[in-house]
Amino acid sequence: MAALYALVPLVATICVSATAPSGPWDVFNLAPESKTVYARTIYGVTGTVATADNLANNTGSATLVGDGSYVTLDFGYEVGGIISLTVDNATTSSSLALSFTESALYISPQTSDDSAVQDAEMSYDGVLPLTAPLQTGLWTAPDYRLRGGFRFLTVVSTSDDPVTISNVSCAISFMPHWEGLRNYTGYFYTSDPESDDADFLTKIWYSGAYTVQTATIAADTGRVDPPLGSPGWYNNATAGIASPLIIDGAKRGRAVWLGDMDIAVPTQFVSTYDLLPAKNSIATIFSLMTAAGELAYSGPPLSEQGSDTYAAWTLIGTYNYYLYSGDLEFVEELWSNYTRAMEYLAAKVDEKGLLYVSETGDWGRLWMGGYNSEANAIYYQALLNSAQLSTWLNDTDLAYAYYTNATKLKGEFNVVFWDDDVGMYRDNETSTLYPQDGNALAVLFNLTTSAEQASRISDGLTQYWNEYGAVSPELPDNVAPFIGGFEVSAHFASGNDERALDLIRLEWGYMLTTNISVQSTFLEGYTSNGSLYYRSYDGYAYDPTFVSHSHGWSTGPTSALTFYVLGLTVTSPLGQTWSIAPHTSGLPSAQGGYSTTLGWFGVDWTSDTSRFNITISTPEETSGTVKLPITGTMYVDGVEVDEDGSQAFELSGGSHTVIVEA
Ligand SMILES: *[C@@H]1O[C@H](CO)[C@@H](O)[C@H](O)[C@H]1NC(C)=O
Ligand SMILES: *[C@@H]1O[C@H](CO)[C@@H](O)[C@H](O)[C@H]1NC(C)=O
Ligand SMILES: *[C@@H]1O[C@H](CO)[C@@H](O)[C@H](O)[C@H]1NC(C)=O
Ligand SMILES: *[C@@H]1O[C@H](CO)[C@@H](O)[C@H](O)[C@H]1NC(C)=O
Ligand SMILES: *[C@@H]1O[C@H](CO)[C@@H](O)[C@H](O)[C@H]1NC(C)=O
Ligand SMILES: *[C@@H]1O[C@H](CO)[C@@H](O)[C@H](O)[C@H]1NC(C)=O
Ligand SMILES: *[C@@H]1O[C@H](CO)[C@@H](O)[C@H](O)[C@H]1NC(C)=O
Ligand SMILES: *[C@@H]1O[C@H](CO)[C@@H](O)[C@H](O)[C@H]1NC(C)=O
Ligand SMILES: *[C@@H]1O[C@H](CO)[C@@H](O)[C@H](O)[C@H]1NC(C)=O
Ligand SMILES: *[C@@H]1O[C@H](CO)[C@@H](O)[C@H](O)[C@H]1NC(C)=O
Ligand SMILES: *[C@@H]1O[C@H](CO)[C@@H](O)[C@H](O)[C@H]1NC(C)=O
Ligand SMILES: *[C@@H]1O[C@H](CO)[C@@H](O)[C@H](O)[C@H]1NC(C)=O
Repeated sequence: MAALYALVPLVATICVSATAPSGPWDVFNLAPESKTVYARTIYGVTGTVATADNLANNTGSATLVGDGSYVTLDFGYEVGGIISLTVDNATTSSSLALSFTESALYISPQTSDDSAVQDAEMSYDGVLPLTAPLQTGLWTAPDYRLRGGFRFLTVVSTSDDPVTISNVSCAISFMPHWEGLRNYTGYFYTSDPESDDADFLTKIWYSGAYTVQTATIAADTGRVDPPLGSPGWYNNATAGIASPLIIDGAKRGRAVWLGDMDIAVPTQFVSTYDLLPAKNSIATIFSLMTAAGELAYSGPPLSEQGSDTYAAWTLIGTYNYYLYSGDLEFVEELWSNYTRAMEYLAAKVDEKGLLYVSETGDWGRLWMGGYNSEANAIYYQALLNSAQLSTWLNDTDLAYAYYTNATKLKGEFNVVFWDDDVGMYRDNETSTLYPQDGNALAVLFNLTTSAEQASRISDGLTQYWNEYGAVSPELPDNVAPFIGGFEVSAHFASGNDERALDLIRLEWGYMLTTNISVQSTFLEGYTSNGSLYYRSYDGYAYDPTFVSHSHGWSTGPTSALTFYVLGLTVTSPLGQTWSIAPHTSGLPSAQGGYSTTLGWFGVDWTSDTSRFNITISTPEETSGTVKLPITGTMYVDGVEVDEDGSQAFELSGGSHTVIVEA
């Protein structure tokens, strides 16, 4: 039997990855049951709209009477797609218009929140008119008027004559390649004793997962840029070389940005295992590579060049995609371009031994350029990932070269950027700024040389916290949840687990509950007093309606809760090897897991001061290491063992129970 078993190629055991088990966590899954959704409530009526309530849950018709009368429908959470409605009765002069917004602050019968372009007038997009004469029967918005993200839809009568409508719905356009949007392959469930809402952390996990779903689109529904004129917006641009794609945000900018993906794709990995969009987005950016080896900063139609950091993130994202998918064929196809892109970055490392940034595009921060610590931290991780990829591809010489360069870079990084008096890294060699991004990434990517150093940085980062979140000193007055997500992971990585959860409660708690956002998906960013004027002075034209309320890069806690609180990571493609190292973080228990094509990876643990219990389930043919958060007498599957929990120990795949009694 053993011999026979060995003859069965691995691929034969690969089946479609499993759906996550159902349980009390399912009520927090925000994805709709059906691809046709209706408003849940009526937010308000101005003027005369008879029986407006009928438009909620599609229970009947409503009649708008008089020019300027309007009704605002509340879908209850972030949705996106194409609107249709039935005109039941109209005169030859009745007319209507539709406007959209994510934030309730910008409900208006005259204009939508801005998606086409930032605009100080806050009225670029305008309304979608349904002009007279209206035909009775079903009306459907044209494809290019797809609205990628909104919560509120306002229907306004734009003539004196009455009009009766019903059946106002949105045909969901995100995740076009998935039939069942709630069909997650992973889950997370815990009870949070530090929040008023015990389900808070579970909700954060699901909101992050749903946020990324809304940012997964058909390739021909990108945002047209430059815009075609006001009023109006056009979501019929081709945003990549294959479909579907993962893009930055639902409403905007609806383009491929691969820095963003280094938060968004781990979210997909732990929740939906929907990796095809990542593959297509990576392929799109590689297809735009220049002859010199420079990778594009953004996908089409923007197709910008000019970011050393996003180039390095693209390479890290390629590694992550392979780690999660095991798609060797794809990596082999890209490999000569991949190594060329690494050479392009290596050529920027000068005699100082650090990468000198000359292409300064980045996530929105100021002062990128020169020997910058954030950029060097990202490049360091790209070197280590490249060494690992080369090893997997059996190119040991190249692996050695990357690894050697990584080691050198880490040495110089600590010489040039470390300020021992402050206990943090400088932004650049002359700067007195201690950035959130460079410091968080340096801890997360292990540019630190001791646990104590990492912990000092974790302490230092808390100086930027206020009552709304972590304010990035490198983008003054702004909270940047993209970088905040890396900061959450950095606190976990440095063993400051409760601090990691505190930052989630603070920053993601604000985003999820504030009534100026959508209370379901996560903002692209906001300001230090919680307002929507994110990046106002840095390219967003003081237009608070332009910010995206559903941005994949703001979902860092979702994968962090899985990777650290559950402690479940894969250490080789598809999880053939894995690591389980739960961080209890002050929680009494947690459970969850995810699937790859090899099968289900899950844990369920409970903890108190004297005992830690965990059940572990991984696919049979796999193996891994387990490191538990307490030491004491250890029982594996009921049998006392020599280990005491202070060291990681090996475990084969399958189902196991481990108990440690302190
Ligand atoms: C519409 O249905 C949802 C549940 O599906 C419910 O919460 C909501 O209250 C309903 N709206 C109205 C106006 O009854
Ligand atoms: C349609 O609207 C007109 C007034 O605009 C009204 O006279 C007529 O009764 C309505 N028809 C129906 C079927 O409601
Ligand atoms: C948000 O809540 C506050 C306090 O209840 C209220 O004053 C404000 O009008 C609300 N804002 C929106 C946009 O709903
Ligand atoms: C109601 O809208 C749906 C699309 O959401 C459409 O398929 C259906 O035909 C409409 N019903 C009527 C009576 O117009
Ligand atoms: C849900 O996922 C399972 C397993 O991946 C798959 O077999 C099933 O077809 C999916 N259902 C829908 C409605 O997509
Ligand atoms: C988008 O749609 C508009 C309106 O139909 C059209 O003029 C434009 O050419 C389309 N753009 C693309 C890229 O298809
Ligand atoms: C590799 O880069 C070249 C440009 O240097 C580009 O034309 C080609 O499409 C890229 N190949 C892949 C597989 O991305
Ligand atoms: C170093 O950072 C400071 C801000 O702290 C900035 O003014 C300066 O331009 C940066 N140096 C380079 C070379 O970009
Ligand atoms: C690397 O070498 C091992 C051992 O010879 C082999 O099993 C594996 O398929 C090789 N991997 C690749 C990507 O060629
Ligand atoms: C390693 O660094 C050297 C010196 O900067 C450079 O010439 C070489 O291309 C780098 N190698 C790799 C694989 O990055
Ligand atoms: C981090 O780097 C140190 C060397 O500075 C090394 O000893 C340690 O193993 C690294 N940690 C991880 C998790 O790779
Ligand atoms: C661990 O499991 C044992 C045996 O099932 C049980 O007696 C104990 O209460 C559990 N401890 C915790 C902390 O859940």
